[in-house]
Amino acid sequence: MSRIPLIAGNWKMHKTLSATRTLLAELNQAVSDVEGVEVAVAPPFTALAVAAEALRGSAIRVGAQNMHESEEGAFTGEISPVMLTDIGTNFVILGHSERRALFGEDDELVGRKVNTALAHDLVPYLCCGETQQEREANETMSVVSRQLRAGLAGVPADQAAGMVLAYEPVWAIGTGLTATPAQAQEVHASIRALLADRFDDATAQAIRIQYGGSVKPGNAAELMAQPDIDGALVGGASLDAASFAGIVRASGAAR
Ligand code: PGA
Repeated sequence: MSRIPLIAGNWKMHKTLSATRTLLAELNQAVSDVEGVEVAVAPPFTALAVAAEALRGSAIRVGAQNMHESEEGAFTGEISPVMLTDIGTNFVILGHSERRALFGEDDELVGRKVNTALAHDLVPYLCCGETQQEREANETMSVVSRQLRAGLAGVPADQAAGMVLAYEPVWAIGTGLTATPAQAQEVHASIRALLADRFDDATAQAIRIQYGGSVKPGNAAELMAQPDIDGALVGGASLDAASFAGIVRASGAAR
């Protein structure tokens, strides 16, 4: 089963409207000749409409970094899936470790958001990953498995097949530390086995599992060469067109 690698940029709380236009113009140019890799960006909410406009006609996908679990209502400060699809967003990152750790999102809430996203034709990029302490206590797979089972609760196999998962060890996010290709592959293979158990073999083979955590142009190729690593969720290095394009290129060459 060949899964097309998917390189997605998570801009986090960065980029004004003018910086968004500049970065996307540069990125569009820089990756226009790359084949066999899907590219996606997740700007902040305020820049989504501008990003969707800037990328009209481009193969680069636009997504959000979060959303509320409901379609509408009295939820001051929140953004709904309907608002996201309305402006041309086609995916949403859910359960990122910063949302979990800094904004109190638990496994069950993430699961409800996944179901809402699917109901609105937004592709969920469901994130999971252990902290340093959990890794040292040999809890990596029990944590990841708990996060994924709750995150996928109620999701039927045919819908799961179109989803994207992101394994992001918390200790590697924004730290410059990266899981070694072997460490990452080991977890990715276990996640795929978990998916086969939760759904079926064909579904597990169809779901793309990205790696995230300090991915850079210099380490992308060796990560993407692993059989169960199907792309990257990139934070810091996605804020610069040359470094993000470098990751896209390296990933295309590695597969
Ligand atoms: P990083 O972030 O690439 O800056 O480590 C990854 C992420 O949080 O998705």
